[in-house]
Amino acid sequence: SPCCIGLDIGTTGARGLLVSPTGEVLARAAVPYPLLTPRPGWSEQDPEDWWDASCQVLRALAAAARQSSRRMVALGLTGQMHGAVFLDAQGEVIRPALLWNDQRTAAECQEIEERVGADRLRAIAGNPALTGFQAPKILWLRRHEPEAYRRVRYILLPKDFLRYRLSGVLATDASDAAGTLLLALRERDWSAEILQALDLPLSWFPRVYEGPEVTGEVSREGSLASGLPAGLPIMAGGGDNAAAAVGSGVVREGSALVSLGTSGVVFAHSDTLKIDPSGALHAFCHAVPGKYHLMGVVLSAGGSLRWYRDTLGSEEEAVAGRTGQDPYHLLLEEAARVSPGAEGLYFLPYLAGERTPHMDPQARGAWIGLSLAHRREHLVRALLEGVGFALKDSLVRIQGLGVNPRVLQAVGGGVQSPVWRKILAAILGLPLQRLAVEEGPAFGAALLAGVGVGLYPDVETAVTRAVHPLGEVEKPDLALKEVYERLYARYTRLYPALQRSGVWQE
Ligand code: XUL
Repeated sequence: SPCCIGLDIGTTGARGLLVSPTGEVLARAAVPYPLLTPRPGWSEQDPEDWWDASCQVLRALAAAARQSSRRMVALGLTGQMHGAVFLDAQGEVIRPALLWNDQRTAAECQEIEERVGADRLRAIAGNPALTGFQAPKILWLRRHEPEAYRRVRYILLPKDFLRYRLSGVLATDASDAAGTLLLALRERDWSAEILQALDLPLSWFPRVYEGPEVTGEVSREGSLASGLPAGLPIMAGGGDNAAAAVGSGVVREGSALVSLGTSGVVFAHSDTLKIDPSGALHAFCHAVPGKYHLMGVVLSAGGSLRWYRDTLGSEEEAVAGRTGQDPYHLLLEEAARVSPGAEGLYFLPYLAGERTPHMDPQARGAWIGLSLAHRREHLVRALLEGVGFALKDSLVRIQGLGVNPRVLQAVGGGVQSPVWRKILAAILGLPLQRLAVEEGPAFGAALLAGVGVGLYPDVETAVTRAVHPLGEVEKPDLALKEVYERLYARYTRLYPALQRSGVWQE
């Protein structure tokens, strides 16, 4: 019987799933790779690391398929959005990729707004120029590494580099392409006007497909490296958030999700293109053909807790090492014993600057309200709540555009914790629904692959057949919700005050 593969080139590693037509996960594999931060605010990865890790993941999945006598019929790709992979005429990688959370491109964003015109940019690409997007990274290379820039012949997004290595085909999908800032969202194709204004040749950019479309197949070389059968069709797939939306059933008007991974995301489906006049919410294409979505992004969500574990969590790491527990679990359990509001302590999660709602690469993280009474577990509690408030900043803006989800599908590592989930439901004021499959992006990519190969007639049907909710919804605790409404009102006053103070100026 048939099965599909979903492969996710994440920020922390490559993850892959083997999925049956009814949405059963038959096998999973994950291989981590490092994040390079050569300077504060810079964030890079070596595409060769993605390739090596992906080949290991795909080999493991291919072996699992063989063992269970399943026939792999299609591969769907997904990954971190916005990254810039620069290739030369031979298709070789020129320098490490600049990633979605890289903040070096403030000057280039200004350049884009000036060259294209802020209004035109908003009208065509749906968004203002933000440091994380792909286009400003290209202009950065032109200005700061002209030698490298002269060699550029192709520019790919992270998952599309994998596609290129596996199939030799240069292709992308509309949801991921929308995150470059070079796509005309209505046409779902590259904008000649923007490319011309930025003096970038169209030939550098891959052809744009819809998520479930076939872009090519695994080549002989790709097969040798990955263990996948030559000729296996590869579907366009989607950026990780759009694919996670498919994987969690967010493919119809009124449906939305919250994701708590390295970044935090609130994502709402929209049948038509809606553009946030303030620019704080992203307007992108969906991986569902012809559809769109609105999205707010918190750059350091789960990433804030990882930073805490790595810098201040050595005690938990040591205990975890001795007892075989997960250090995150220990941190979250300690935080659960602290009262809501962490006794007057607030945390701003802007460790890498912030996108939604501040669009400020200069912003930085902070604990505010420290007293002698605070202990380490208060720091963690405030951190969990601060990430929740930051996500609420996105949700209230989505609601402000008239999109009112009644429940949020909850995905990502952070929502696996009952502690964080409870806090999040109360802060967002909406029930959270978890799903049987945790790996939303890879799962969604596998479903898109299934649509492309004809296992399902369309994405909506794929979701109906294969996406299964897990257990009860997490309803907001009403008393806790009230407490957090009061605290959120205060939280929203902290960023403007700090910003005005000038402490974050260069
Ligand atoms: C979305 C964004 C992040 C990455 C994380 O705009 O930058 O969510 O996609 O992988």
